[in-house]
Amino acid sequence: MLLFKLILSAAIAAALPTPESPEGNPSHPFSRTGLAPWNAGAVNQFPVHSSCNATQRRQIELGLNETIALAEHAQHHILRWKNESEIYRKYFGDRPSMEAIGAFDIVVNGDKKDVLFRCDNPDGNCGIEGYAGHWRGENGTDETVICDLSYQTRRSLSTMCGLGYTVSESETNIFWAADLLHRLYHVPAIGQNWIDHFADGYEEVIDQAKKNATLSTHDSETLQYFALEVYAYDIAVPGIGCPGVQHKHDEPHVDQTSEAVTGQPTPTATNTNAPSTTSEVSPNCHTHEGGELHCT
Ligand SMILES: *[C@@H]1O[C@H](CO)[C@@H](O)[C@H](O)[C@H]1NC(C)=O
Ligand SMILES: *[C@@H]1O[C@H](CO)[C@@H](O)[C@H](O)[C@H]1NC(C)=O
Ligand SMILES: *[C@@H]1O[C@H](CO)[C@@H](O)[C@H](O)[C@H]1NC(C)=O
Ligand SMILES: *[C@@H]1O[C@H](CO)[C@@H](O)[C@H](O)[C@H]1NC(C)=O
Ligand SMILES: *[C@@H]1O[C@H](CO)[C@@H](O)[C@H](O)[C@H]1NC(C)=O
Repeated sequence: MLLFKLILSAAIAAALPTPESPEGNPSHPFSRTGLAPWNAGAVNQFPVHSSCNATQRRQIELGLNETIALAEHAQHHILRWKNESEIYRKYFGDRPSMEAIGAFDIVVNGDKKDVLFRCDNPDGNCGIEGYAGHWRGENGTDETVICDLSYQTRRSLSTMCGLGYTVSESETNIFWAADLLHRLYHVPAIGQNWIDHFADGYEEVIDQAKKNATLSTHDSETLQYFALEVYAYDIAVPGIGCPGVQHKHDEPHVDQTSEAVTGQPTPTATNTNAPSTTSEVSPNCHTHEGGELHCT
């Protein structure tokens, strides 16, 4: 590119009878940009570091592809139904839909530069029991480390609503798709230091939507739970999903359908299996000061 520009300016200089003057040829900048497509240099795939071997790379790439599928469906659900969707209102309350649409769109269609997944444990955290990965924070703000435990525990979206999973009773990071969505939101290129942790866990997410939904459309957990619930309901088990037990919350007008949802003909195995599944996964989550839930 640089060489090309040099050749180009040399060619132009040779063609010009006089040296370029500041007021020079006004079409000059345009002819330059016209040579490359407007989106030259776009990064369309999330970069995976050379420290990841073939198996690791393949699983991370499959996981990221599922993240895109999850985010894309969440976006399409909102674009189709806006707040007519009960699931939308459950997670985002009375908020306008554009911010959540954008939060999903940037994952699907945003440029994927300045994001890096690596496998070489540069901070030594992968040795910590139960550690599946982390955002490097001040050690590398664009970078996310994926540890071996991820390859052993994360599930494909194809298992959605199986293996005892329910939206309300299981951790979001059971799935590669939601785990990596959460990790992408920590990276400034995607989360823009705007998507953050405000609510901690399913119950707080639901309460936040009811009491003061202002933060909900840029809350990392809310976006994950919403995306999983609409994927379950629209795609995995159409019209039924696997929302899990719904607790009544303070507000009187809360869907009385909650009880009906619980009473759905889900196999009883779902309920008995759910707690053990949850406790298997929850050690990966811990709460930071200020109530920030961090699932590793
Ligand atoms: C990649 O690395 C993991 C973890 O060290 C290892 O279990 C796996 O066998 C490696 N895969 C290949 C293809 O070398
Ligand atoms: C992920 O999706 C991209 C784009 O559709 C595709 O080229 C790539 O092969 C997929 N990766 C895997 C591991 O399936
Ligand atoms: C749904 O969106 C419409 C249009 O923006 C708005 O007037 C209405 O108050 C919203 N309803 C709820 C329950 O948020
Ligand atoms: C950053 O690196 C330091 C020193 O290696 C380490 O103690 C710290 O845990 C790392 N931070 C993160 C977020 O991994
Ligand atoms: C709702 O939350 C926002 C952001 O935390 C805050 O600025 C606002 O005052 C809150 N509104 C109410 C009515 O509590």
